[in-house]
Amino acid sequence: MCDTTTVIDDDRHPHTHTTPPEHHHKFPRTAYTPSHETLVTSVENAYNEVRTSRFYTNCMAALHTVQTCLQEALSSDWALSNIRCMVVYGLGSLSGYQGLNSRYQLALSLLLRQCLHGLLHPPEAYDPVFTDIDGDVLQQLDVHVIPTNEKGRRVVTEPTLFYLPHCEAELTDALLEANWREGQLLNVIIIGMRGGYGFVCGICGLWNL
Ligand SMILES: C[S@@+](CC[C@H](N)C(=O)[O-])C[C@H]1O[C@@H](n2cnc3c(N)ncnc32)[C@H](O)[C@@H]1O
Repeated sequence: MCDTTTVIDDDRHPHTHTTPPEHHHKFPRTAYTPSHETLVTSVENAYNEVRTSRFYTNCMAALHTVQTCLQEALSSDWALSNIRCMVVYGLGSLSGYQGLNSRYQLALSLLLRQCLHGLLHPPEAYDPVFTDIDGDVLQQLDVHVIPTNEKGRRVVTEPTLFYLPHCEAELTDALLEANWREGQLLNVIIIGMRGGYGFVCGICGLWNL
């Protein structure tokens, strides 16, 4: 059986952008609140950049590897199109220079959504640092802001993709603990960080945890 935890080459990961493209220079390192429109445009620019990046190609390849591994492991027709929900925890605030990572991560979320044809509703996102403007931008991009702090403890009964970009291990722990029941972990698909390995994607029910 192959390992359903797949490491993605992250040399194009937002965190490694040491030279942001020109359109990000409108976010100075000083305290600054960009307009809603500026933020939406910045996320759209990031979307186009990520879509054509090698990182994104690797990300898609990794997701398909997970799909193939699951099909082999379960002797089933499990498919990415079975994923019914998508949750993004820990995006951070989109505003300002500090939001550079978050805007790229949101762009990747929007791209991931495009390839999940079985989603029953728009992606949901939560971060305690979201501002009102972040909420407006997310709403415009058809991402639903979760109204309460679930502290990562969402119990899922349908296959759900969780994207936890650079989140603390405690959040992943809480998510796993909440779903730690036979059969149920198979509903938890995480794209997140794993120690020094960078970006990973795994189906928890098959992880050697
Ligand atoms: C290390 S930061 C990563 C921020 C951003 N994704 C990045 O890469 O720069 C971890 C994020 O997790 C968020 N966070 C903390 N507790 C959370 C919770 N209960 N639910 C969702 N996000 C949470 C923090 O506010 C913070 O923005």
